[in-house]
Amino acid sequence: MKLVLASKNKKKLVEMNDILSHLGIEVCSEAEAGVDVEVEETGTTFEENSLLKAKAVMEASGLPAIADDSGLCVDALGGAPGVYSARYGGEGLDDVQRYQLLLENMKGQMPRTARFVSVITCCFPNGDVLSARGECEGTVAFAPMGEGGFGYDPIFFVPGLKKTFSQLTAEEKNAISHRGKALEAFQVKLKEYLNKN
Ligand code: IMP
Repeated sequence: MKLVLASKNKKKLVEMNDILSHLGIEVCSEAEAGVDVEVEETGTTFEENSLLKAKAVMEASGLPAIADDSGLCVDALGGAPGVYSARYGGEGLDDVQRYQLLLENMKGQMPRTARFVSVITCCFPNGDVLSARGECEGTVAFAPMGEGGFGYDPIFFVPGLKKTFSQLTAEEKNAISHRGKALEAFQVKLKEYLNKN
């Protein structure tokens, strides 16, 4: 089965394929499906934005589409950047500038607890929708560590492993990450759905 990923993020595409390929599911990019969809993320929850993205790409491509809406929620900042993680500090910043801004805003703040959240939504052309949520608890590091991953990975510290997400291999990250967990839960729902249909 082929799903179109409603995202331009190549690292998300790799993570999704790593996790879903053993189910015989191929996740392809919008470009491979011949669509280029700009979705305005007007929702105030991960659930709303995930649905907006998956629905728009399903409608444009005519194929089942999967979206991940995700972000980092920091307790001391009232849950920010949350659904605005990709736009924290404005559209002009890159990943490094964004996590540096977050570190700046965390100066003197306690606690440093935070969680990554991912909501996966899959929209089918017949109107059916499947959705699943995953979370990963951690803390905001005092300085970036590691080279891997993307986004806020260098400053997201996992106390149990004493490493940031950037210091984990892709396999290690997928085993505990918000997206890994959401995709685990999604797989179960997808298997049930495919058995019924
Ligand atoms: P989205 O693509 O609109 O869902 O935006 C998600 C944003 O949250 C990304 O641009 C990253 O800044 C951040 N994010 C989500 N998942 C991760 C992750 O696994 N590692 C690091 N940052 C992430």
